[in-house]
Amino acid sequence: MDIYYINGEFIDDEDARISAKDIIVLRGFGVFDFLVTYNRRPFYLKEHVKRLENSAKEIGLKLLHTTEEICKIVQETIDRNPHHDESNVRIVYTGGVSPDGVTPQGNGVLMVMVTPKLRLPDWWYTDGASIITVDIERFIPTAKSTNYLSAVSALQKAHKTGAVEAVYVDRNQRVLEGTTTNIFGIKGTTIITPPDSILPGITRGIILKLIPEDLKLEMRHMELVGLLEMDEIFISASNKEIVPVIKVNDITIASGRPGEKTKQIMAFFKAVTTDFGIGKVSKIF
Ligand SMILES: Cc1ncc(COP(=O)(O)O)c(C=O)c1O
Repeated sequence: MDIYYINGEFIDDEDARISAKDIIVLRGFGVFDFLVTYNRRPFYLKEHVKRLENSAKEIGLKLLHTTEEICKIVQETIDRNPHHDESNVRIVYTGGVSPDGVTPQGNGVLMVMVTPKLRLPDWWYTDGASIITVDIERFIPTAKSTNYLSAVSALQKAHKTGAVEAVYVDRNQRVLEGTTTNIFGIKGTTIITPPDSILPGITRGIILKLIPEDLKLEMRHMELVGLLEMDEIFISASNKEIVPVIKVNDITIASGRPGEKTKQIMAFFKAVTTDFGIGKVSKIF
C-alpha cells in the first residue's frame, strides 16, 4: 500500500478520491508533472514544480499552493513511503469542481501520488529501441496537461509494432517530441533538438548542459526525412533517462546500434544522477 497526499491529507492509495464533478474528470482540465528519485531524493524537484506552475498558467488554472509548499508536500509524501527503494512521483493539480461543469472556479485539488519506481528493460539501453512517428500536434505543447488523449492513442499504435515510443510530426513535417519524451538527433559533429512547440523536458534541459565539447548544438526542427538520415537518435525523459533509438517506422538508423556519442551522453547523465543521489549536486540550471 502506498501513501498519497490529497487535499491536505495523507491517505492510503486505495482510499484516494476526488469529486466526480471535478473538471479534470469531466473535461480533462488539470495539470501534472512527473519525476523520479535517486537514492530517495526527488530529482530536480523545484524545476518540476516550476514547470507545473507554468503548465497551470498556460492552460489558465489557478494554483492555491506556493512552490515551497508543493516541494514540502512532495518530500513528506516520499518520506511516508519508506517501503520504496526508489519512487515515481506524480504531482497532479485538478481543475476543481465547477457548477456549470466547464468554468474553472480556482478551487483545484493538489494530489501527490508516490509509487515504486519501475525498472525499464535493460535491452532498451544496451541494444537500442524502435520508435514510430504519428501525425499529431499537441494542444498547448508547452503545458503538461492531464489531457493526454493523443499520447495514449499514439502509444497504443507504437506498442502494437513493438516500438517503445511514438513521436509527433506536425503538418509541416517537423519532428517535435515523443508522447512523454524529447528527441535528439546527431549528424556528424552536430547535435540537433527542436527549440520550441514542445514540452521543455527537465531531462532535455540537463542534457543540453552535458553536450560533449566535440559536438555543436543546433536548436532547430528536424524534418522527418532528415531524422531518418541521422547517424544517431535518442529520446529523453525523467522515467526513461536516455534511450538510444535504432529504428524509426521500421527504418534502421545508421548501423542499427546505439551510437558512440549517445553512449557518452548517457554516461554523463548517469554521473549526474549518481552525484545527485549522494547529495553532490552540480547546479545545472
Ligand atoms: C510531451 C512530453 N515531452 C517531453 C517529456 C519529457 O520531459 P521530462 O524530461 O521532464 O520527463 C514529457 C514527460 O513526460 C512529455 O510528457
